[in-house]
Amino acid sequence: MGVFESLRSVVRFERIETDPVERRLARTAGVADLRLIARRRLPRGVFDYIDGAAEDERSLRQNEAAFARVGYRPRVLRGVEKSDLSSSLLGVPLAYPLVLAPTGFTRIADPDGELAVARAAERAGLPYTLSTLGTRSIEEVRSVSEGRLWFQVYVWRDRGLVKDMVERAREARYEALVLTVDTAVSGRRERDVRHGFSLPPSLGPKTFLDGAVHPGWTWSFLRADPIRFANVVGRASADGSTPVTLSEYVSSQFDPALSWRDLEWLRSIWDGAVVLKGVQSVEDARLAAEAGVEAIALSNHGGRQLDGAPAPFDLVAPVADAVGGRVDILCDGGVRRGSDIVKAVAAGATACMAGRAYLYGLGAAGERGVDRVLGWFRDDIARTMALLGVGSIAELDRSVLDVGREGGR
Ligand code: FNR
Ligand code: LAC
Repeated sequence: MGVFESLRSVVRFERIETDPVERRLARTAGVADLRLIARRRLPRGVFDYIDGAAEDERSLRQNEAAFARVGYRPRVLRGVEKSDLSSSLLGVPLAYPLVLAPTGFTRIADPDGELAVARAAERAGLPYTLSTLGTRSIEEVRSVSEGRLWFQVYVWRDRGLVKDMVERAREARYEALVLTVDTAVSGRRERDVRHGFSLPPSLGPKTFLDGAVHPGWTWSFLRADPIRFANVVGRASADGSTPVTLSEYVSSQFDPALSWRDLEWLRSIWDGAVVLKGVQSVEDARLAAEAGVEAIALSNHGGRQLDGAPAPFDLVAPVADAVGGRVDILCDGGVRRGSDIVKAVAAGATACMAGRAYLYGLGAAGERGVDRVLGWFRDDIARTMALLGVGSIAELDRSVLDVGREGGR
């Protein structure tokens, strides 16, 4: 046997991956890896808009730290052959307890934007929430997905605009409205202030300089149709055809005087389920349950609004004790692994919502990046439950959590 043959008998030569997206994904193992790739590929202003949060970003860090503070109390020898991940939300089954959170301007991360995320969600058997400030319309998203779709509502000063969007969502068979209530005004996102970040991103000399370092993004941004607030095109001056900062946009378009009465109004024009997103206290969770919403999303908007607002995961147990069984409870913010979802459900949540996790995937590798994240989450949940000795989502309860010890992530 020659040297080459003997070498070949012990070393298997790897096939050279020619597809650039697969090559990028090949050496990634988790959301944190995709975040780093997205940071490299996206212009700094775009990455920081997605990654950043309000003021000192304490709530952003707390959202993740809250999960890390809680560990597990695994049980062994429980004879679990395969854990069942399915559960139900708003009375409808879902593949595992996750909903894709609404994120505005998704096409700045990748030209396929909302369409890519909606398709990936459908493949994973999960609901996708389209933002009011989406860059693909209610109808465009429905045209690529027969899956469960939710529509997120900001309450515009122009109530006629909201009414139209709600009617369009009904026509397009959206299952639920998600009313976001933590955005009376925009939080102060200092990274955006420093970059002078606008929506859509304006292509000034600075962006072009930055673009020279991010040719892939700049090329696809220039080639794709212009980024618009697709749900309000042709309505209001505010369709994104001229660049604005988010805080200008929010203060000129959205009604800061939103109140419980507006929820009643929304009820009067929509007979499907309502999810109240941005609940941040036990008191408001009780009021929401009394007001008859189907679900609440405990959320501080991923730390992007009030810095110092509590971490959603920390609210799950007290809120579940107060209103569990009466409304579905979503835990939104800081989810970076399936294990976080297991912890939230064990503490009393019905499911989680996640935003940045899929945006990092989208920014790193487009639609396949989102598939990758959703696949990891599913596998993480299955593995974590197997290692905990728990056979089904319904069996997850606080007995698996160790709140007195660092989780040690
Ligand atoms: C958001 N979020 C959000 N929420 C909402 O109700 N309407 C919106 O248009 C947006 N837009 C948006 C853009 C971006 C870039 C991010 C990161 C987030 C908040 C989102 O729905 C969710 O609450 C957070 O993303 C949850 O935190 P994680 O999962 O990002 O840690
Ligand atoms: C944000 C807005 C769009 O968080 O809600 O950026």
